[in-house]
Amino acid sequence: MTGAVVERYEERVRLGRIEPDAAQQSAVLDLDRLAKALAGWRPAKPGLLSFFGRERGVRPRGLYLHGGVGRGKTMLMDLFYDAVDFKPKRRSHFHGFMAEAHERIAVARTKVDGDPIPLVALEMAGDPGLLCFDELHVTDIADAMILGRFFKVVFERGVVIVATSNAHPSELYRNGLNRQLFLPFIDLIEDNLDVREIKAKKDFRLDKLAGRPLYFTPADAAATAELDRHWLRLAGSGAHGSTEIEVKGRRLHVPLAAPEMGIARFSFADLCEKPLSSVDYLGLTQVFHTILIDGIPRLEPARRDTARRFINLIDTLYDSRVCLIASADAEPDDLYQRGEGADLFVRTASRLTEMRSEGYLSERRTASDAEGLTI
Ligand SMILES: Nc1ncnc2c1ncn2[C@@H]1O[C@H](COP(=O)(O)OP(=O)(O)OP(=O)(O)O)[C@@H](O)[C@H]1O
Ligand SMILES: [Mg+2]
Repeated sequence: MTGAVVERYEERVRLGRIEPDAAQQSAVLDLDRLAKALAGWRPAKPGLLSFFGRERGVRPRGLYLHGGVGRGKTMLMDLFYDAVDFKPKRRSHFHGFMAEAHERIAVARTKVDGDPIPLVALEMAGDPGLLCFDELHVTDIADAMILGRFFKVVFERGVVIVATSNAHPSELYRNGLNRQLFLPFIDLIEDNLDVREIKAKKDFRLDKLAGRPLYFTPADAAATAELDRHWLRLAGSGAHGSTEIEVKGRRLHVPLAAPEMGIARFSFADLCEKPLSSVDYLGLTQVFHTILIDGIPRLEPARRDTARRFINLIDTLYDSRVCLIASADAEPDDLYQRGEGADLFVRTASRLTEMRSEGYLSERRTASDAEGLTI
């Protein structure tokens, strides 16, 4: 018998919103099974000994979906999350979750002696239930250690996890410093979650962008309307607003974001006329795989700080293979011809041009493919 997840997937196919894909269908069946298992399970409330506090049914195993970019992992997780009739449930973008963890640990340090991580893990794990994590990746040792201990608490407490990632668990934090300390965490994941690869036939995101113009000149009302159309196609028509992301302890304002879809929109001034650095830009690339920028101006020599930031921004987006959709007052070669760093800008212009090409889009790597990058 088909369940709610299968039905929702099939309905989207029927309505022409998505194309059927065999690999996705197989993941949908796994998610469907999990949704049914959750419906038959009632976790025990920690600390309660009464009849109502008893566990009913068997705690289902969670799921770990991994695969290349744009294969529909996030879409399937959202489909599952909406369809599943089980409480408590929580869905977190991994980056936001880690930012919250760091914040709570900093606060706990001022209040308790000793190691604050187990306490914070317990707070954040919440009651036994369902926790969905989108885009799990591990880039530094601090995150690796927090995560390892967090998952230990979470599994002991009886939380069921569904996670998506670009990497197989055994590839997480590959080449990372002191990786041996992280290995028990990988075992924990494999013990508690079924690991499934989604080998969808194509990168559906690329499909949505390929063959469409991504760079619009001049930056007039028609260009804004084109960016609006891209936004709608990629982020959907839901209500989206501003958000903040945490970068190295600082908060970075994002004027328009669909973090669950990995998309953000900025004006040029938001990104290059404020005192932002490469660290901030790198922070953006960890949350957003597609960035829209409105109104790149011609850069005058007197605005060398702005030009320098713009060069850093494009370098960072390029290195992370972020998709860029932009409106600008001129073609890349004509944006910055005179002034300090104009010689460097030749490379930026060339990158901007390449970022409009299908070659660039299709080369987007999963983080695990990126050399030297640990995830
Ligand atoms: N079967 C499909 N038919 C049409 N569009 C699809 C299909 N599956 C996914 N998409 C669309 O493709 C885009 C990318 O999907 P999604 O964001 O879920 O990929 P992902 O696997 O999470 O990628 P990443 O690894 O970069 O996070 C989304 O706009 C999504 O709606
Ligand atoms: Mg995703």
